[in-house]
Amino acid sequence: MELCRVPAATTAFAWTNSISSTLQLPQTLFVGGGSKRFRVWCVNGNIESQKESQMVVSITGATGFIGKRLVQRLQADKHQIRVLTRSRSKAQSLFPVKDFPGLVIAEEPEWRNCIEGSTAVVNLAGMPISTRWSPEIKKEIKQSRIRVTSKVVDLINNSQDDDRPKVLISASAVGYYGTSETRVFDEQSPSGNDYLAEVCREWEGAALKVNKDVRLALIRIGVVLGKDGGALAKMIPIFMMFAGGPLGSGNQWFSWIHLDDLVDLIYEALSNPSYKGVINGTAPNPVRLAEMCEQLGSVLGRPSWLPVPEIALKAVLGEGASVVLDGQKVVPTRAKELGFPFKYRYIKDALKAIMS
Ligand SMILES: NC(=O)c1ccc[n+]([C@@H]2O[C@H](COP(=O)([O-])OP(=O)(O)OC[C@H]3O[C@@H](n4cnc5c(N)ncnc54)[C@H](OP(=O)(O)O)[C@@H]3O)[C@@H](O)[C@H]2O)c1
Repeated sequence: MELCRVPAATTAFAWTNSISSTLQLPQTLFVGGGSKRFRVWCVNGNIESQKESQMVVSITGATGFIGKRLVQRLQADKHQIRVLTRSRSKAQSLFPVKDFPGLVIAEEPEWRNCIEGSTAVVNLAGMPISTRWSPEIKKEIKQSRIRVTSKVVDLINNSQDDDRPKVLISASAVGYYGTSETRVFDEQSPSGNDYLAEVCREWEGAALKVNKDVRLALIRIGVVLGKDGGALAKMIPIFMMFAGGPLGSGNQWFSWIHLDDLVDLIYEALSNPSYKGVINGTAPNPVRLAEMCEQLGSVLGRPSWLPVPEIALKAVLGEGASVVLDGQKVVPTRAKELGFPFKYRYIKDALKAIMS
């Protein structure tokens, strides 16, 4: 559900795009502008109104590829943002005061003060997996996620009841399901047996220790497509060097999501009480890698006849290339049940939008 932005000073009503199937009435509408917006619920014909509270959102991993876009999105809607980071200077350079007035930046000793009193916490932190996987790095890939998640969960659980955040949105990944060329995975599917599946299980396990009064949404994220980061940014130069042909057999599944859809999904999960439990963060139409490569080649204007050698991709993505080279077909059953309005359902449209 897209929250309508109403121009400041307007007194007109702005309707959301969700229509109750039984009542044929809008479920919510927004009145007024800026921080003075009011949310009005229509229930069985009676209108209950409630001042829409501005969210206060603490975010780990806010300085990353997904986090940066989420911060921009929340900032645009005038929510308060608290960036929980390991590096104040990095966060300050990404979120300068002139563009992000009121945004709070906190290093680890200050996380407690930020989490207490937040409406919600979004947990995105973790060491990047697109690296060469030495035993030490594999350990850190897992430990960084468990360490930050456990810390956030402890701080939430130890908050005073009145100051405890009501919502935790914690990242996980489609690697939870393991890899397969033939099976289709949804939120009910069991976990796989490989290293990334183990990382995801333990990462989710740390989040599941959150106080039972806190609404927890675990987003199992697919390969996020956006211009300024993620696997795609690393793949494009390789495709430009070669001819944009298939990778390996090309039969591997590629469960992708456009960055804007993922950020909208997280945003929606922050405020919509129906978003809880595991939710796959993938587009409705995963593709085989051959199709992804063909579409990427076509969008980049590269003919797709010369195969890109796996070794080239591994050179830039390290063993982390396995997320692209050994995939899984993951479908967003929960998001569809929840009526989440994907903007990018097909990879061609997503790639075109990114490259335009
Ligand atoms: N991008 C994808 O395609 C994708 C797919 C599936 C799942 N995910 C998951 O979604 C989350 C966000 O993804 P992203 O692509 O935005 O990640 P990203 O760009 O790599 O950013 C992750 C953030 O985590 C923090 N971080 C990095 N190394 C860390 C370490 N060793 N210990 C603690 N914190 C560390 C950093 O924040 P500070 O330096 O500010 O602390 C960094 O900005 C990640 O956990 C990722 O595994 C992403």
